[in-house]
Amino acid sequence: MSKDKILVIGANGQIGSVLTEALRKEFGDANVIATDIRAREGYDGQFELLNVLDRPAIASTVNRHGITQVYHLAAILSAKGEQNPLQTWDINMGGLFNVFEVARETGVQKVFFPSSIAVFGADIPKQMTPQNAVLKPTTVYGMSKASGELWSQYYFQKFGLDVRSLRYPGVIGWQSQPGGGTTDYAVEIYHYAVRGEDYTCFLSENTALPMIYMDDAIRATLELMDADASKIGERTSYNLAGMSFSPSEIAAAIQAQVPGFSVSYQPDFRQAIAESWPASIDDRAARNDWGWQPKYNLENMTKDMLFHLKK
Ligand code: SER
Repeated sequence: MSKDKILVIGANGQIGSVLTEALRKEFGDANVIATDIRAREGYDGQFELLNVLDRPAIASTVNRHGITQVYHLAAILSAKGEQNPLQTWDINMGGLFNVFEVARETGVQKVFFPSSIAVFGADIPKQMTPQNAVLKPTTVYGMSKASGELWSQYYFQKFGLDVRSLRYPGVIGWQSQPGGGTTDYAVEIYHYAVRGEDYTCFLSENTALPMIYMDDAIRATLELMDADASKIGERTSYNLAGMSFSPSEIAAAIQAQVPGFSVSYQPDFRQAIAESWPASIDDRAARNDWGWQPKYNLENMTKDMLFHLKK
């Protein structure tokens, strides 16, 4: 029997919803408490409403359930964040401080903080962006993640809180919908293809970005959190790679399975965000420290996505 009690904050989100199920498998249904600011219709697991800006409510949830690990996934993403920069900062940073402070004051031992490729901006090598490249993010979301990485390291060094973090690339899965991100096109495009509709992409055809399949993203998260603390050499956040492709490359991969699928390109404000980010990621630190190894590339991801979405 697991002694760990897990709290997932942001459990209705694209990653949170899938991660919650994976954590239930690993730790047992009774040991995983899913929370979100919005109710979840028809969900039969343990679920509670929780606003990440309400620190007393987080503390009460943690104490009531004897929580030992927190996965803090609630945040406003890159594209949506630009519509209200100060509110994005308040939610992303305020939420993180609340989680860290509650963790420090209670029995929480480990915290997972998701960072992002959005921490990168100008003056990086675009191909195979290294772990220690300079961080000059251009979005408020990226600024909040870059700052959150430093605060993660700070809470570890000052207070011994075992915070662990991954810089997720764009995450692609059939189980859930993303919302408000710049990489969301790579999920939407599959839904259009399966419905037999043409797709208009909001990025231009040759803009390559780092991406990862949901199965790999979830496995990376569990492996990082399971690793012996002595293996975690990077206390800000780990570069994490799955694959890298442009809109025209994912279109071609889908067309190989769905003949006649048509894609056109109408870049909007998200194009500038995408252009500020890496095209591909060097994740050797994650590979060396805790054995990270992705399983999915564009081709086998596309087969799996189409298979599940057609069901
Ligand atoms: N998928 C995220 C976004 O586009 C990147 O972390 O905002």
